[in-house]
Amino acid sequence: MQVDVLDHPLAAVALTILRDESTSRPTFRAALHDLAMMLVYEAARTLPTTPVTVRTPLAETTGARLAVEPVVVPVLRAGLGMLPAAHAFVPDAVSAFIGLARDEETFQPTVYLESVPADLTGRPVLLLDPMLATGGSALHALRLLANRGARGIVVVSVVSAPEGIAALEASGLDLRLVTAAVDDGLNDTAYIVPGLGDAGDRLFGAV
Ligand code: PRP
Ligand code: URA
Repeated sequence: MQVDVLDHPLAAVALTILRDESTSRPTFRAALHDLAMMLVYEAARTLPTTPVTVRTPLAETTGARLAVEPVVVPVLRAGLGMLPAAHAFVPDAVSAFIGLARDEETFQPTVYLESVPADLTGRPVLLLDPMLATGGSALHALRLLANRGARGIVVVSVVSAPEGIAALEASGLDLRLVTAAVDDGLNDTAYIVPGLGDAGDRLFGAV
């Protein structure tokens, strides 16, 4: 699995705002949007393009358009905070939704929504979730997408734990991970340390 860790001063600034426990909810949401813009931009580097001819005011030249519109898949809830950034770059993308809630005792995801096209064959897929902790949620989503024909899925994460990366690598799936940070590891409640806390709660409030 190819792992790309975004190395950019603006990404480091946005990530620091996200990590800071005193960051307000609106500021957290804005910083996640900013960082997701940078991550999606990097994740989109591998999207295939087709040459097109355009006429400038001066001459005809060759440009590019996306060969196939990608499918963007936020993992609810926290992945929703990254969806506007994906829409900004690929406005015609199809959005699919996977709703997962991690059981806080077993750390296994329970599924409450799967709204995904039946056939993803030949379609680039970006999976959006700010947190890759044990990797259980990402793996559930990835297996669902792979079972529907998706290949070369790009996982877009803000903070990744080594344990989650190892779990994705062990899956044998054809993947690329784009992340802003690889942190130290998980604590005994499977939270990423130093991490940024519960991303869904910080975005939307505890339910
Ligand atoms: C969080 C996070 C990931 C998952 C990561 O979601 O957004 O989806 O946990 O943990 P894992 O790698 O160990 O599976 P959570 O289930 O808390 O739901 P939420 O986004 O609705 O808060
Ligand atoms: N989910 C989160 O939101 N944060 C973590 O650190 C782990 C799982």
